[in-house]
Amino acid sequence: MYQINDNYQKLPGSYLFSTIAKKVAAFTQANPDRSVIRLGIGDVTQPLVPAVIEAMHKAVDEMADAATFRGYAPDLGYEFLRRVIALEDYRKRGCAISEDEIFVSDGAKSDSGNIQELFSTDCKIAVTDPVYPVYVDSNVMAGRCGVYNQDTQMWSNVIYMPCTRENGFVPEFPKETPDLIYLCFPNNPTGTTVSRAKLQEWVDYANEKGSVIIYDAAYEAYITQEEVAHSIYECKGADTCAIEIRSFSKNAGFTGVRLGFTVVPKALMCGSVSLHTMWARRHGTKYNGAPYIMQRAGEAVYSEAGKAQLKEQVACYMKNAAVIKEGLTAAGYEVYGGVNAPYIWLKTPERMNSWEFFDYLLEKANVVGTPGSGFGPSGEGYFRLTAFGSYENTVAALERIKKL
Ligand SMILES: Cc1ncc(COP(=O)(O)O)c(C=O)c1O
Repeated sequence: MYQINDNYQKLPGSYLFSTIAKKVAAFTQANPDRSVIRLGIGDVTQPLVPAVIEAMHKAVDEMADAATFRGYAPDLGYEFLRRVIALEDYRKRGCAISEDEIFVSDGAKSDSGNIQELFSTDCKIAVTDPVYPVYVDSNVMAGRCGVYNQDTQMWSNVIYMPCTRENGFVPEFPKETPDLIYLCFPNNPTGTTVSRAKLQEWVDYANEKGSVIIYDAAYEAYITQEEVAHSIYECKGADTCAIEIRSFSKNAGFTGVRLGFTVVPKALMCGSVSLHTMWARRHGTKYNGAPYIMQRAGEAVYSEAGKAQLKEQVACYMKNAAVIKEGLTAAGYEVYGGVNAPYIWLKTPERMNSWEFFDYLLEKANVVGTPGSGFGPSGEGYFRLTAFGSYENTVAALERIKKL
């Protein structure tokens, strides 16, 4: 009789978004005349920009002609895309990353879930709390996290680094030394980030302790402040301790198109073993590459027209972020994030926990957000609103909240 990977049985149900959907469905059924505004989702709403659409059409036509048809993509991604990423995202920012250190993929969720395969099951992970759930769940599946405690909502073998208003949402170095450190800046869900100088301290820490930082920079395009690093490789020594994961989902609206990439520097070595070689081997064995059409679409993101159009798109979302931030502040809420990220993280009013505030907002303002406790125990007492809705809906939602 076969046996299953028991680790999957250890995963607690992910009730967050299904509970939200059920509550919203019940509310709309009971109140069909009320229009509900959804500021809970982390998905984009604006269409792909013309430069990207044009590149996709062209690539589709190439697939219809035997002379230009493409079959399997190169394991690590097409050179035209890797070259432009290395130039635009790295070398222009002073990071010495070369195109053969870039691995094109179908997105940051898969890469951030799969990267743990390179490490021993004995490795101990550290995550910020609250956190994007993929980092922990993928390690649970691999058998790295111990047992789950329903009461504390914590895994016995995970190092949690609380990020709260008390520490400015900046994780402190843990007491116990981790092997793998997951960092995500700008952060989902808190919408906050760290300075380049602070990130440098993490890089120094990882190099000193012999840890690897898995750095998720999916929201890099939303950075507005000069002191915030767009890439961890802006920090000295990051090439010997950090893997960086990027996405085209939030900077270019590719959530349905699917494209991302991961940087594994050649200098990142575990003794005499190269993690770059290991990840290349994994790509070659288990991954078929992102489709040619999508890689051409990704290339267009870096064209002059693409850059200009996407700058505008990101600015639209950030205008929403400002509306939410200013509106909530005017209404007396304590508000964080929204400056370098499309997420606003607010403190729930006194005596209301995250779910109580969810119900209150839905019933009284007909606005949907996400309870902070769904992202980890330190998210209790906080609430996330996203800037990915339309401008009109965002303004209307804030008008309603201000009247409460
Ligand atoms: C922190 C973070 N990383 C990764 C992702 C997923 O990105 P992708 O669409 O490229 O899989 C998300 C999506 O919400 C995210 O918030």
